[in-house]
Amino acid sequence: MDKLIIKGGKKLKGEVTVSGSKNAALPLFVATILAPGLNEIRNVPFLRDINTTIKVLESLGAQVEGNGHVVRINTSGINSHEATYDLVKTMRASVLVLGPLLARFGQARVSLPGGCAIGARPINLHLKGLQALGAEITLEHGYVEAKARRLKGARINFDVSTVGGTEHLMMAAATAKGETVLENAAREPEIVDLGMMLNRMGAKIEGAGTDTIRIQGVSELSPASYEVMPDRIEAGTFMIAAAMTGGDIRINGMKLEHLDALAFKMQDAGVEITSRDGVVRVKGPKRLASVNIKTRPYPGFPTDMQAQFMAMMCVADGASVISENIFENRFMHVSELLRFGADITIEGNTATVKGIKKLSGAPSMATDLRASASLILAGLAADGTTEVTRIYHLDRGYESIEKKLAGLGADIIRVKE
Ligand code: EPZ
Repeated sequence: MDKLIIKGGKKLKGEVTVSGSKNAALPLFVATILAPGLNEIRNVPFLRDINTTIKVLESLGAQVEGNGHVVRINTSGINSHEATYDLVKTMRASVLVLGPLLARFGQARVSLPGGCAIGARPINLHLKGLQALGAEITLEHGYVEAKARRLKGARINFDVSTVGGTEHLMMAAATAKGETVLENAAREPEIVDLGMMLNRMGAKIEGAGTDTIRIQGVSELSPASYEVMPDRIEAGTFMIAAAMTGGDIRINGMKLEHLDALAFKMQDAGVEITSRDGVVRVKGPKRLASVNIKTRPYPGFPTDMQAQFMAMMCVADGASVISENIFENRFMHVSELLRFGADITIEGNTATVKGIKKLSGAPSMATDLRASASLILAGLAADGTTEVTRIYHLDRGYESIEKKLAGLGADIIRVKE
């Protein structure tokens, strides 16, 4: 296993380019199941989760080839309708293949994803929506069995805003008979990306990105080529890295409008953020001010930036109150940040962070994808040396992050453990 060694205290300077979005690419890959033939996806990030998705598609019989950033997926040859536990357990988003397999073949057998470090993450709303479209769903031996001669359009109202649930039902309804309306749909930009690619395949989807999505079922979809949107969470992580080190960086290829909630809170903390000709400049202040945040569905403050923002508040002036309202167990980075000398107390889903002058570098262990990012950020700002182990969590969602940070002047290396 690899680990990262960081010598803190360097002010980040220079330019970095963000990769394609993990959370947009995963459903885009799955949607190719609906369109037999050769699909091409560009600006694909080079990540473990992408490789896992490729393995899932190949296990179904699809042919996948590509050099990392451009991936060609031919799904004509799909001859299995089963996504097995050993694949689904490594990446829960694989459960999204259920709807497309059901829509195309009338049946599917997909392992239940099980929980993950940040929470139980049930898929009850996915399954309830598929049943509303006419699927017969049974759960046995840890698998979801689904059958439907042809899915029929329906009105579906989500109890809670679910990104995966919205994506899943957009895909399943694309070729269902008649109209489907998704109410209280999630509005994340990654959903807009999926809607755009499905429409390029011939789907008739309106309202992706709003809380009401209308889908007129079509008889079939044809293969398409599509460019993945930039990864807004990777971009946000670099913004915080600049802010925490008093740096001054320019980020290429990101869409600042995808991160309004984060940018406004960072500006409240004293960070200068400007955007011109598609380049975002982020300048950290001498001393950060503390700011309160509450994570919310988009366009609210993104839960995927909570751990990184908390790392920043550890070295801000004053106290900041951070409430995590999306997942029930997304404070695992706290116990590791305490090892850097941070002053954080937790009460239920709320953490109170009292800013200190300086963090001190420490050996630490990643527990989930975004928690590992927060430990790297702490290490960049801390005095002395930091080690972060179990960075396979990091490789799920960040493409060569240590190279990109080193390119900004950070003293960070990846070594074999
Ligand atoms: C997506 O997960 C992202 N993953 C997550 O990013 C992100 O944190 C999350 O959306 C919220 O923005 C991908 O896109 C691959 P949800 P998803 O369904 O779709 C509850 C990262 O770090 N819920 O919007 O699984 C659920 O328990 C990852 O990149 C149900 O109760 O999230 C949670 O509390 C982490 N029943 C809330 O909804 C359901 O059927 C939001 O979950 C579905 C969800």
